[in-house]
Amino acid sequence: MTLIERLRQRAAQRDAAHTRRSRRVQSQRNGMLAECDGMQLVNFSSNDYLGFAQHPEVVAAFQQAAARDGVGSAGSALVTGHFAAHRELERQAAALFGYEAALYTGSGYMANIGILQALLDAEAVCVQDKYNHACLLDGARFSGAALKRYPHADMRQAEARCAEAETDTLFLVSDGVFSMDGDAADLAGLHGIAQRHNATLMIDDAHGVGVLGTTGLGSLQAAGLTAKDVPILVVPAGKALGGQGALILAQRDIIQYLLETARPYLFSTAPAPAMAAALAVSLGLLAQQPQHHARLQENIRHFRIRAEAAGLPMMDSHSAIQPLMAGDNETALRWSAALQAAGFWVSAIRPPTVPQGKSRLRITLTALHTVAQIDALVEALQRITGDGHASA
Ligand SMILES: Cc1ncc(COP(=O)(O)O)c(C=O)c1O
Repeated sequence: MTLIERLRQRAAQRDAAHTRRSRRVQSQRNGMLAECDGMQLVNFSSNDYLGFAQHPEVVAAFQQAAARDGVGSAGSALVTGHFAAHRELERQAAALFGYEAALYTGSGYMANIGILQALLDAEAVCVQDKYNHACLLDGARFSGAALKRYPHADMRQAEARCAEAETDTLFLVSDGVFSMDGDAADLAGLHGIAQRHNATLMIDDAHGVGVLGTTGLGSLQAAGLTAKDVPILVVPAGKALGGQGALILAQRDIIQYLLETARPYLFSTAPAPAMAAALAVSLGLLAQQPQHHARLQENIRHFRIRAEAAGLPMMDSHSAIQPLMAGDNETALRWSAALQAAGFWVSAIRPPTVPQGKSRLRITLTALHTVAQIDALVEALQRITGDGHASA
């Protein structure tokens, strides 16, 4: 069989399993109103939780920096690609999250792969929640370490996996907020386990920063933990910060080691300096304009109250991610298509992103949604899913 024949056969298998994927073309956006494939839709699947991707100050910072520095960085950070804008972003991020140092990388995926490959080896053990993001699992696999996964949120199993590890290099790694379920990890529990077993605790807070904590600083703030308790924090910048790339936060020694040895950092063009300049403004907004976080929190609360009143079996999530379980792929796709016909963009999440039989709508709320849009979504969800829910 030729390569093309093999690929076509696999595509046919995915068709039969309702797991085919395609890209949608967004031609314009205005707040959460998106023009998508010629339709006007309210986007309820965006990760732009605080609306910073379109905030005028963030956009202006990007434009000014591009006018000054050009577009591409034109080199890897260790050759000629590291600009003043990158250095300033790293300084600001370290100060805001209370860490000694920060490293700005091209993506969250690349940050996690780089950290785990650089710090783990075949003698190491990496203990992870089963629902961790794919790049944390891939990073551990690529590092050659023994990857030990525990059932989602099961602290007893997490402790058992750490207790049985015979290694000097034990990492305990978790999402702060799980990207497809929206629930928060038990960070206090994980911190206790890390302490008892001398493990390095690493948290990826892609969906916690900007959302959780009294001022939106994320999962650590919500759990009352600091840099001392979580030695490695990863903040992907493509979600609430509205940009692209990721900030790795850690002690100076760790950051220095990573910038000299993490292969995806060494062998990749540095992110655009204009993106770093824009993100520095996003961090400033997070620190100084609490209204965005307050508005997001209010929208999450409002959605949950209305969804409960409508009898929708929402999962136990207090983050911006509010999944509605469909069960099989066909149901998730049917719901998503019906929502689209009603003017809403809510994507159906299917395997391999989630386990078999746990396909769902992944609804996300942002600070830019209006109460009227949220009410209209709940009404549509009630109507469309009224023919029977899978249990959450
Ligand atoms: C928890 C988590 N970590 C990392 C990433 C990857 O970040 P990036 O999109 O910047 O590669 C994502 C999503 O994209 C995520 O949800």
